[in-house]
Amino acid sequence: MYKEIVKEKFNNLNKNYKNKDILVLGIESSCDETSIAVVKNGREILSNVVATQIDIHARFGGVVPEIASRNHLMAIDQVLDQALEQAKINLTQIDAIAVTYGAGLVGALMVGVNYAKALSFALEIPLIAVNHIKGHICANYLTYPELTPPFVALIVSGGHTALIRMKTYDKFELLGSTIDDAVGECYDKVAKCLGLGYPGGIVIDKNAKLGENNIPFIKHSILPNSFDFSFSGVKTQVINYVHKLTQANENIPINNICTSFQNQVIDELVDKSVKAVLKYKEKKLVIGGGVSANSCLREKLTQCAKEKNFSVYFPEKNLTGDNGAMIASEGYFQIISGRGLAGLDLTPEPNINLKWLRRKQKNIL
Ligand code: KG4
Ligand code: ZN
Repeated sequence: MYKEIVKEKFNNLNKNYKNKDILVLGIESSCDETSIAVVKNGREILSNVVATQIDIHARFGGVVPEIASRNHLMAIDQVLDQALEQAKINLTQIDAIAVTYGAGLVGALMVGVNYAKALSFALEIPLIAVNHIKGHICANYLTYPELTPPFVALIVSGGHTALIRMKTYDKFELLGSTIDDAVGECYDKVAKCLGLGYPGGIVIDKNAKLGENNIPFIKHSILPNSFDFSFSGVKTQVINYVHKLTQANENIPINNICTSFQNQVIDELVDKSVKAVLKYKEKKLVIGGGVSANSCLREKLTQCAKEKNFSVYFPEKNLTGDNGAMIASEGYFQIISGRGLAGLDLTPEPNINLKWLRRKQKNIL
């Protein structure tokens, strides 16, 4: 019975979305944030509660998967209560549940996915399986109500670096991704080696403002004719540089290292995203993911957009990191595209990426 009921509700939402408000509950637990949000019509945030575990993991220098899963489990009931309270609604008013089912840590994803399945079953409302990377793009639909595809999207987070050409809300083409470390991961590893703590991006960004771009780390792209990225080379150079100075008992110019590393990495991101916009004659570039908070990336892209005459969009600062609102938003756009309806056999996909997203992202009920 459940299957028939949710299928019919999904089809009704898909048919009637232009005449009726749709409330989606978004659940995110892929890494170290437990977050639940209520979003109206994919654009309007009624609540977005984020319980972060950063302080818990900071003392280990990075996310400890088992600890993350346990803390999601402890936090999730309370996060849901707060999300409903802040949105001033009760569960029966929700039309659909959207949940991140990949990519991420398997145990962490498991908590959100099972919670979402239980809610969907109890409330007899559709369950929508959301890819985290597409969620990061949607942070911009929440920030700019007028933003619509087509555009080029650059996703830069702790787990992903990808250039995507969004043709519609649903149809896209992956132009390139990292062949090794994600850009945020690189920031975190460099920060760890410099003793700057976890997560590293925000600290490096701050220190970079105080230093000089005077250390000659790789000054060229190692993948010049491709939209793919590689960051492990520059990361290894920084680590070797720091080790050499430490062994020689020399002073480590932390701020200059931050500035030089950051400029190298950001130039690569800016260069390739601008090339993609120009090559495909798009008018908009949309950035998403934790690293989209980076001040150097924002400054350089804003400048390039002015020079080359396109518009650049960054999410509001509190939507750059992981949150349930972006997942709810993507859930809405899947509903109106008639895709993403999941069954109760939905399982986490820790390694899902955009290359096989289209194959997987059909209705799986
Ligand atoms: O999107 P996100 O919250 O989680 C993942 O999906 O991975 O991204 C977290 C990443 C971390 O690696 C963090 O160091 C990085 O985003 N980050 C930054 C900045 N703020 C956060 N990287 C560079 N500059 C920043 N200002
Ligand atoms: Zn993320």
